[in-house]
Order: sequence, then C-alpha cells, then structure tokens
Amino acid sequence: MTTTLTLKRPDDWHLHLRDGGMLSAVAPDSAAHFGRGLIMPNLVPPVVTGADATAYRNRIMDALPNGHAFTPMMTLYLTETTDPADVAAAAHGGLITALKLYPAGATTNSQSGVRNIEAVLPVLEVMAEIGLPLCVHGEVTDSSVDIFDREAVFIERVLAPLRQRLPQLRVIMEHVTTADGIDYVRGGGDNIAATLTTHHLFINRNHILAGGIRPHYYCLPVAKRETHRLALVAAAVSGDPSFFLGTDSAPHPDPAKLSPCGCAGIYTAPNTMACLAQVFEQENALDQLEGFTSLHGAAFYGVAPNAGTITLTRGDDPVPVPPSRSTEEGDLTVFDPDVPIYWCVTAVN
Ligand code: NCD
Ligand code: ZN
Repeated sequence: MTTTLTLKRPDDWHLHLRDGGMLSAVAPDSAAHFGRGLIMPNLVPPVVTGADATAYRNRIMDALPNGHAFTPMMTLYLTETTDPADVAAAAHGGLITALKLYPAGATTNSQSGVRNIEAVLPVLEVMAEIGLPLCVHGEVTDSSVDIFDREAVFIERVLAPLRQRLPQLRVIMEHVTTADGIDYVRGGGDNIAATLTTHHLFINRNHILAGGIRPHYYCLPVAKRETHRLALVAAAVSGDPSFFLGTDSAPHPDPAKLSPCGCAGIYTAPNTMACLAQVFEQENALDQLEGFTSLHGAAFYGVAPNAGTITLTRGDDPVPVPPSRSTEEGDLTVFDPDVPIYWCVTAVN
C-alpha cells in the first residue's frame, strides 16, 4: 500500500481569503500547502477595478506569514458597469488572471453581480479577444427554480447560449455540483473547464438535512443527491484535464453560520489535501491526484506547474479534524469530511 506521496505543490483555483481580521486568520492555512490561489473578489464592497485588485493584493501580501511561497492570483468581480478598458489594462499588466461572474443574488455578497448578461457583453467580448478567462458561479437566481435545479437550469438558459455566441471565451464553471455540469464540461471542448471543491466530493444533501440541520455543511451551490456526488468523484479521479481543484474554501465565523439565516460557505483550506488523498485512495486513483491538484488547472490558466513539492503520509490511525481557528469575529470551524482521514501533509518544499 502507498504510504507516502510527493506531488508538485498544489494550486487552489477558487479561494476566498476575505479581508481584515479574517484574512489574517486564514491566509496562513492556504499558504501552508498551496503555491497559488485564485482569489475570489466577493468582498463588501467587491473587487471591481484594477485599482481595487492592486489594493487587495497588497493587503493579502501583508497578511501572509514570513517566508511563505504563496502567490495570490487576482480576479475582478464583473458588474454591469465594469469598464472593458480597465479589464484589458489589468490583464495586460499581469495583475489579474480572470473575471468572476456572479448572477446577482446567487450567493454570499453577490448583490452587485450581473442581472442581465447583455449588459456585460462588451466586457466578455474583450475577454474572448484577449484570452482572459471568465469564472462563473453557475446558478440561476429565479425564485421559481428549485435550489437543487439551479445549476442545471443555468447551463441551459445562460451558459450554453453565451458560449454559442462567444465560442472563443474561456470559461470555468466554478464548484460544479451536478452530473449535468460534469457532462456539459466533458463534452465542451478546450475553452471550458470546471473546478471541483473538496467538500462536494464528500457530502450530499443528506449531510445538511437528514437527522438534524447542519449549517457547517451548507454552501452554495448546495450539495445535491448522492448520484451527483458520485459523478463529481468520477470526474475528479478520471485524469480529464478539464477538471481541477478549486476548494471554494469560504470562511464564515460560527456565529454567522449558526443563525436562523446562516451564511453559505465551508472552510476547507487546512484539510483539503489530506481529504483529497483519502478520496483518491478510495478510488484507487492516487496516481491521478497530482493532475487534479497541481497540473490541470495550471495548464488551463497557461502557467507552469509550481516548482516546489508537497508530501502526504498515510498513517495507521485516523487524523482528527483540525481544530477551529480563532478569529476576531468568533471561532471558525474547519470542514469535517464525516469519514476517517488517514492522510496528513508531512512536508512542503
Ligand atoms: C462563498 C462565500 O462565502 O463567499 N460561499 C459558498 O457557499 N461557496 C461564495 C461562493 O463561492 O458561492
Ligand atoms: Zn466561492
């Protein structure tokens, strides 16, 4: 049995680092394992302009521990008033790696997002022309659409028509949660890819709702039924380069999660690599882990893999879930995968 595994240092292609005290609390966890993180821009107010991204990047650099080797890769939050020229300038200068499309109201801090896709076409056309990728939160927000159907309906109503109109636009379907999303990306050619989170490889909707309501398993897109989870696991371990890791590690302090209207988001940065090794081992696919965590995403974004490495070791006994982090806004609970995890990170070089 394999007991140690050394991989090229992984990247997290979908990461929420927040700001202020929360940023200081969580930045060390991502920097401990990952070489790069694609930083989601849904702050309040959001990171909309190149100037916003420069300022936010500086705050992230200040929050990183001494001696770290972590590079934040920045995104801009697409709004209906985003200036195509500002986007092009930020992309040409290497400041930003992608734009993020949040349908207005789809998730945490998405109220400044897009209501009408027509309004952002001029920006999307420039992006298609210069090869700047669009990260998409793929859920419709129409209240008449059931929350468990919102991803599939988004593909049909928004994403497929958009990609027919702008086939050159490079799109990443973020945190795919359905077999429908997997099928769409798998057959979709070179200009589409998908990130998969850690938690969606472990939980289905029963984890949230059966035998008591568990806010720490609530995130968006919400976890679906087991058949979908199995499709996500199959895609992750398949070796298909269209699928790669974006943890969607999304810290909210416990008081904000454990409330009558709790926030969506699961904090997975500390134990993602250990959890993933467990899933890939379970699927007899440890040889595909490096592709998923360290190679496919870099290839899609057109950057070289990291130079460093990470080593994971499998022990004889399960490793406990990492303890809650303490933040200025209260404790921050780390994701509990609800199955024993025998792997842990033992070296990062
Ligand atoms: C994210 C957050 O908290 O910022 N929440 C989540 O449930 N995933 C936003 C997002 O990526 O949808
Ligand atoms: Zn997210």
